[in-house]
Amino acid sequence: MGKDRLNRVVLAFSGGLDTSVMVRWLRENYGCEVIAFAADLGQGENLKPLPARAEAAGAADIVIKDLRQEFAEQYVLRGLKAQAIYENGYPLATALGRPLISRHLVEVAEKYEADAVAHGSTGKGNDQVRFEVSARALAPDIEVLAPVRNWELKTREAEIEYAQKHKIPIEVTAASPYSYDRNLWGVSIECGPLEDPWQRPPDDIYQMTVSPAEAPEEPEEITLKFEAGRPVELNQQELPLVELIEQLNKLAGAHGVGRIDMVENRLVGIKSREIYEAPAGLVLHSAHQALMDLVLERDLYHYLQELSLRYAELVYNGLWFSERREAFDALIDQAQRYLSGEVRIELYKGRAVVNGRRSPHSLYDRALSTYEQGDQFDQSLSTGFVRLWGLPLEVAGRRRSR
Ligand code: ARG
Repeated sequence: MGKDRLNRVVLAFSGGLDTSVMVRWLRENYGCEVIAFAADLGQGENLKPLPARAEAAGAADIVIKDLRQEFAEQYVLRGLKAQAIYENGYPLATALGRPLISRHLVEVAEKYEADAVAHGSTGKGNDQVRFEVSARALAPDIEVLAPVRNWELKTREAEIEYAQKHKIPIEVTAASPYSYDRNLWGVSIECGPLEDPWQRPPDDIYQMTVSPAEAPEEPEEITLKFEAGRPVELNQQELPLVELIEQLNKLAGAHGVGRIDMVENRLVGIKSREIYEAPAGLVLHSAHQALMDLVLERDLYHYLQELSLRYAELVYNGLWFSERREAFDALIDQAQRYLSGEVRIELYKGRAVVNGRRSPHSLYDRALSTYEQGDQFDQSLSTGFVRLWGLPLEVAGRRRSR
């Protein structure tokens, strides 16, 4: 094939058709040994069949790591504190997962003294960017292979044929037309009928949420407690972050909360129709936001709102391992020292509504805001304030009328 020979390649392996075929394809084309690497980010699927699948596909070894805690603590929590939501909708489940997978992919490659790492993303998406940029940020000299961008297996049929030819067992299920990526923080769903943005998403695509129409007729109120921006309790029960998110996914998903339908801008310039489910993500973002409303000094709050946009963009565009992100995190941690308190949220028929919030560090001062007894706000001070605030416009108004 005229490709350079390699000794050993570590492949980010999901066990699906693409990466199963890829194990064999890498061996054939580079004459290399392939180590499969799989990460548990809480995708809820059983990872047990993966070793057998990797072996059957021809991998020399497989490494599986449970990264749920690292994912929750170092990635999801950062995204939550940053209020990082891409294009007003997407809480970035896939985008936050990729840099973590890349980090461990590189680590495994170093341990196995591999010549290269490989991933199964296409040339049309964001995931290729996230994998490659992250891998090179951490190991600048590493070689990264992305076979899907240029291999001869252009269609699903060609891949299936290749698998059959090489006796790679694949689950030829009734071939779902959808592409799923799932972790603790949510599911991303693409392809098939969803490629028509006018088409209503079919009911059977969802994995984490029931249809709001079929959700319970009774609303359910939950409480979340935060400490310095971090969720620490769900319904008065202290929980490690992974468990808190898992439980909240179930609670909110059962009320149909967490479905997101959007057309978004990929980094490579394509608009794509995306369906997401993020039950815990949506509830936690609303609750965190409600606490910010109560606790943050106004100008800092507005500044963080701008930062949220930049942060989401940065994560989406694969720049996680940047010094800019580290600097943002330092600022956000500092800004959220006082972000402790509780939020009550009602889950009902696909909606999560904040019913109340309280904090020992609240800046809400009833004596200032009340229109009833006990008002301590001196309204006479506003006379001069308002006059000076508007003075530039008043001066300009005079010029206009001259
Ligand atoms: N559009 C989303 C993103 O860029 C989801 C990507 C989903 N990836 C996948 N392999 N299905 O983060």
